[in-house]
Amino acid sequence: MRFIITCLVIALSVYVAYHGLEYDHGFIRLTTRSPGNRTGVKAPEKSPFDDNDDLMTWYMEDDSDHQSYSLHYDFYQDSCPTAERIITIGIREVYAAKPSVAPSLIRLLFHDCFIEGCDASVLLDADESLTSEKEASPNQSLKGFDVIESIKFELEKVCPGVVSCADVLVLAAREAVLMAGGPFYPLETGRRDSVVAFKEIAERELPSPQASISVILARFGTRGFNERETVSLFGAHSIGITHCTFFEDRLYNFSGTGKPDPDLDTGFQQELKTKCPYSASAPSPGTGVGPSIPASDYGGVSSGGGSDGVVDLSYNNEGGEMNFGTRYYRRLMQKKGLMYADQQLTGREETEMWVRAYASDTQLFRRDFAMSMMKLSNYHVLTGPLGQVRTTCSKVLPKI
Ligand code: HEM
Repeated sequence: MRFIITCLVIALSVYVAYHGLEYDHGFIRLTTRSPGNRTGVKAPEKSPFDDNDDLMTWYMEDDSDHQSYSLHYDFYQDSCPTAERIITIGIREVYAAKPSVAPSLIRLLFHDCFIEGCDASVLLDADESLTSEKEASPNQSLKGFDVIESIKFELEKVCPGVVSCADVLVLAAREAVLMAGGPFYPLETGRRDSVVAFKEIAERELPSPQASISVILARFGTRGFNERETVSLFGAHSIGITHCTFFEDRLYNFSGTGKPDPDLDTGFQQELKTKCPYSASAPSPGTGVGPSIPASDYGGVSSGGGSDGVVDLSYNNEGGEMNFGTRYYRRLMQKKGLMYADQQLTGREETEMWVRAYASDTQLFRRDFAMSMMKLSNYHVLTGPLGQVRTTCSKVLPKI
C-alpha cells in the first residue's frame, strides 16, 4: 500500500514539476538520486544526463529497494503536514521585503551541501565542543542564517522536533530559486541534521574565486558532478552580489603582473574600476569589514589593498525578471565574467561547450539547472537513524 501511495505522490510531483517547467517551454526528464548518502545505501552513480533510460521507472525501483532509509516525497505528510507550506510562505514573505534573501539562501545551500553533504552543518554556531563552519574563510560572507532560524522557529511551534534544519534549508533554497525567476524542481525530504561541523574541510574544499578550471572540475567531480552539471550550477551567479575583493586582482594586478587580466573585456574592466576603485587605504581582507578573504585556498588576492564595494551579479537585473541564468553565460562569452573562476568556464572545451549552449538555449539551462540543484540538494544526506533533528538550527541538541 505504501508503495502505491509513494508512486502516486511521485507521479503527482512529476506532473507538477513537468508542467512548471513546460510553462517555460522546457522539457525535463525527472530523476535524481544523490551521488551517495550516509545511510550505507548506495545510490545509483549514473548521471541523470547520461542516457535515455526510462528514468522514472529506474527511480521508482530504486525507491522501493531502500524505502526505509532514503528520502521520500512529502516525508512530513503525517508528522507535520503544513511544514512545506510554512517554509514556502516564510520565504515569500521575506523575499517580498528583501529580495536579496534569494541569492543568499542559494549560496548557503551550496556551501552546506558541498561540504560533507546537505546536513545543515554550516548552520551550527561554535561552542565548547564544536568549531563552526561559519568561521571558515569562504563562509564568512554567507548570509541568510537568520531567515532559516526564524522559519525553523515557526515550525517548532507547530511540530516540535520534527522538521530537520537540513530540509528547511533545501526547501527554502528551492523557493528562493523560484522567487528569483529560476525553475521549480521537486524535492524529497527526510534529511537529518549533523551533530558536527567541518570547518577545516570547508576551508580546504570550497573552491576559491581564483580557482582554475582544473580545480573547479576536480572539486565538483569528486562530488559526482560532471562538467555539464558544474557549468549549470554556476548559473546561480546570475543573481545576487559579489564584493570587489573577490575579483579586483583582475582589475589591477592580475597574477602579480601589475596589469589587468587579459581575459577580461576592456570596456567591462573600466566599468568595474569605477565600482571598485583601487584604494590602498581600503580595509584589507580579514579585517572584519566586508567579506573576509580567506587566508588559504579562498584567497590569493593581491591587489594591495582592496575596496569593500559590491557589484551586482545580475547587472541590475539587465534582461528583466526572467534573466536567471542565460545572461550570465552570454556575458562569459563576451569575457565579462566577474570572478576568475566564472571566466574559467570558458577556459576548456568541455565546459565552454555548455556555456555556449546555455547562452543560447534558456530552456536547456533551466532544465539542467533544476536537475543539478536536485542533485546538489540530495548530496550525501543523513537519513534514518543518523544525525538528529535539531530544535534550533545553530545548536546541536543537548546530550541527555
Ligand atoms: C567555484 C565555485 C564557486 C565559487 C568560487 C563561488 C564564489 C562566490 C563568491 C566569492 C561570491 C561573492 C560573495 C560575496 O561577495 O558576499 C559568490 C556569490 C554567490 N554564489 Fe558562488 N561560488 C561558486 C559556486 C557557486 C554555486 C555552485 C552556487 C549555487 C548553486 C553559487 C551561488 C552563489 C550565489 C547565489 C551568490 C550571490 C550571494 C549573495 O548575493 O548573497 N556559487 N560566490
